[in-house]
Amino acid sequence: MKPAIAVVLLCSLLAVSSAAEKFDFFYLVQQWPGSFCDTRQGCCFPDTGKPPADFGIHGMWPNYAKCGRGRQEELATGLLEEDAVAFLSGVGRRGKCWPEYCDDGNALSPWEIRDMVASLDRSWPTLSCKSGRSFEFWSYEWKKHGTCSNLEQHEYFARALALKARYNLTAILAGAGIVPSDTATYSLSSVREAIARGTGATANLECNRDADGNAQLFQVYQCVDREGKKLIDCPLSMPTKCSRDKVKLPVF
Ligand SMILES: *[C@@H]1O[C@H](CO)[C@@H](O)[C@H](O)[C@H]1NC(C)=O
Repeated sequence: MKPAIAVVLLCSLLAVSSAAEKFDFFYLVQQWPGSFCDTRQGCCFPDTGKPPADFGIHGMWPNYAKCGRGRQEELATGLLEEDAVAFLSGVGRRGKCWPEYCDDGNALSPWEIRDMVASLDRSWPTLSCKSGRSFEFWSYEWKKHGTCSNLEQHEYFARALALKARYNLTAILAGAGIVPSDTATYSLSSVREAIARGTGATANLECNRDADGNAQLFQVYQCVDREGKKLIDCPLSMPTKCSRDKVKLPVF
């Protein structure tokens, strides 16, 4: 093989192996367990027992700042180098809002996160009835989203835990008089304002419905910089699915 060809081959191999996933920010998604459990579908507690009556992490998800139409327009004008992104990561196709499953060979290792299991059990518990093992939930989140984060396994989980610990959403809402109740309802704008004031950054909100069809606060989407370290104002809004301005925060 000619040296020039070897150099070109080597360079392209290096480029692939060190390719950083291109995304713009993370959503740190936390769910209110009371709203997960009182739906028609219900919930199951993990084998470690009933989780605390506190927001729990759902995941930390790499996301594009422009998706849907906005992203398609950027792709059309060639700003995002679609071919490069799609080739290197297998995602970033037209109109996608986030990368996912960036490295199926990279399974979560219990050994890598062994020093955080107690915190993860408390802060990132599964409520799914498919498996009572929270490790399966963490593995799924790692495989789908974490492998696109440009972070190592330990760092990915450590950063999500650190952010959650730094901004206690349950305490922030309680400070604004928004406390779990089976009867009270709260305006979405008061929830929004409390979170913006308490964390210094705007967040997106998502509702679901209890078994009687009442709208309730389900998940809070906080936006985090690409390093997974600092909260930022959410660059993107999303539909709340709340349908009404008043929402419940059910007791768990
Ligand atoms: C968050 O705040 C709530 C309400 O003050 C408290 O019960 C809970 O223990 C706090 N969570 C953590 C992880 O400190």
